[in-house]
Amino acid sequence: MVRISPSILSADPYDLRSDLSRAIDSGIDMLHIDVMDGHFVPNITYGIPLVKALRKHLDVELDVHLMISDPDKYAPMFAKAGADIVTVHVEATDHLNRTLASIREAGAKCGVTLNPHTQLDSLSWVLDQVDMFLIMSVNPGFGGQSFIPNSTQRVGKLYSMIHDLNIDVPIEIDGGITPVTAPEIVQAGADIVVAGSAVFSTNNGDIEGNIRSLREGIKLGLDQRN
Ligand code: DX5
Ligand code: ZN
Repeated sequence: MVRISPSILSADPYDLRSDLSRAIDSGIDMLHIDVMDGHFVPNITYGIPLVKALRKHLDVELDVHLMISDPDKYAPMFAKAGADIVTVHVEATDHLNRTLASIREAGAKCGVTLNPHTQLDSLSWVLDQVDMFLIMSVNPGFGGQSFIPNSTQRVGKLYSMIHDLNIDVPIEIDGGITPVTAPEIVQAGADIVVAGSAVFSTNNGDIEGNIRSLREGIKLGLDQRN
């Protein structure tokens, strides 16, 4: 099964409650929350209060993607605020093992992510300490960017790497995922698909229809994989 994690970055901030309910009623499995600090990436978004509020009111897995410079300090706070999974960038920490362990200690699963230019090998020493891998298929910072084509090859390589070692950890893909790009990335091995603009803003915000189209793209990819 491949899960969809809509990125709330492209939801209407004024109508967040309605947009998220529509996505959840369409049967999505997770919500992707992009936290940006204006330092690690050139944009500023949400913080801990939003995660707390979503936790209080929504019964869905909260998938928090930290694009911040000091994850050691803040990642455990997001876990305690109610995130189910907290993902950090390898480029943002000098102490990855410690950061990952601190997320688990604070009660959440831990994910690790790479910018598009970062070597996959940087994951090799933490393969057994991670609950999810996230491959960025755009340079982080903004929604609505185009999928970087060599991301498919990177997902395929990571998929072989972890399956050769019998490691059962899902691969998430984030950036530029649409019904057109989903098939190839799912075929390559992605287990969780993040989509922001393709869920909340394309087709005049037809969230239900957009999720259906994404599912069709995912199915095409899975049919090719098997
Ligand atoms: C980019 C974010 C993504 C982004 C995805 O920095 O990490 O999660 O919101 O948006 P789309 O799906 O529009 O590329
Ligand atoms: Zn993200």
